[in-house]
Amino acid sequence: MLARQEEALKDFEDLAGKLPWSDPLKVWEVNTCFKKKKTKHKKMSVNSNKKKIVNGQGDKLDERDDGGFVNSALDSRILDYYENPAIKEEISTLVGDDLASSKTETDEHSKEETEPQVLKFRVTCNRAGEKHCFTSNEAARDFGGAVQDHFKWKADMTNFDVEVLLNIHDNEMVVGIALTEESLHRRNITHFGPTTLRSTLAYGMLRLCAPQPNDIIVDPMCGTGAIPIEGATEWSNCYHIAGDNSPLAVKRTANNISSLLTKNQVQEGKLCWGMPIDAVQWDSCNLPLRTGSVDIIVTDMPFGKRMGSKKRNWNLYPACLQEMSRVCRPGTGIENGNIYP
Ligand SMILES: C[S@@+](CC[C@H](N)C(=O)[O-])C[C@H]1O[C@@H](n2cnc3c(N)ncnc32)[C@H](O)[C@@H]1O
Repeated sequence: MLARQEEALKDFEDLAGKLPWSDPLKVWEVNTCFKKKKTKHKKMSVNSNKKKIVNGQGDKLDERDDGGFVNSALDSRILDYYENPAIKEEISTLVGDDLASSKTETDEHSKEETEPQVLKFRVTCNRAGEKHCFTSNEAARDFGGAVQDHFKWKADMTNFDVEVLLNIHDNEMVVGIALTEESLHRRNITHFGPTTLRSTLAYGMLRLCAPQPNDIIVDPMCGTGAIPIEGATEWSNCYHIAGDNSPLAVKRTANNISSLLTKNQVQEGKLCWGMPIDAVQWDSCNLPLRTGSVDIIVTDMPFGKRMGSKKRNWNLYPACLQEMSRVCRPGTGIENGNIYP
């Protein structure tokens, strides 16, 4: 299973070298054709089973991948869904009154039959940084206007063919086209905490450590368990231990594990015997683990912004790093942490 995944990743790496990246629309076309073949989806833009977005004056409603609606004003509940939001991050999808279509779907379909096909698009803006004099919604709206003028595409929030991504981080801007219909960064997590790490990041951190079969992998400050849960899902031939000193965090991790087990059971239609993971409450500065008993530690320590404080980190970091070095077996694994001084 792991070998197959690695092969698939290798194929993707090779593919990356062959795609016409200087022409993003070509890449999108290739991807769409591939997905159509692969999944036999009728249409990439079939979102018709989702509710229509209310686009009234000043309403900034955004439809997330889970089909739910969230207010795109800076809402702490949204922030929790994203990578440790020590940096402010704001996400909006273009909803300019002048851009979004108010036509009914029946109108759309009858028009489509008679007129040459015009691509439908929406812009989703991800903004992180303190010094912007615009919101992500304003950026999405203005950028959407420019896209519309340039390509003569039609803005459509729900029935779009192309999702244009506008990622703004401080004074950097990256424009892209979404190649997956659904973001994968929330996979496996149902119970979120104040600093839940994106599953995609957790996967990358684990992969950098090159886990080997039977490795014991520990996250001593697991929060909601994003890292060890990703580990137990993708490296199921290893044993994962998730620990945290907060009882609430341990409970969230346990809930996430149990939701995932139920989901797998429903999807596969058979009893799922469990996952190679345990969740425990402990102090990472005094781990109940034998010296030299752990192969890999992957963790995401508190930055001292949303969680803990920078002052406390001066004592916490040396104490827990020393304890981590005690429990690590020399010569196995590659230590990889997410440390922001
Ligand atoms: C940045 S959060 C980890 C977030 C986690 N990666 C997730 O996806 O939810 C840091 C975690 O360290 C925990 N923590 C802080 N001090 C600790 C200690 N001494 N022992 C164990 N855990 C600790 C906090 O309770 C918090 O859950």
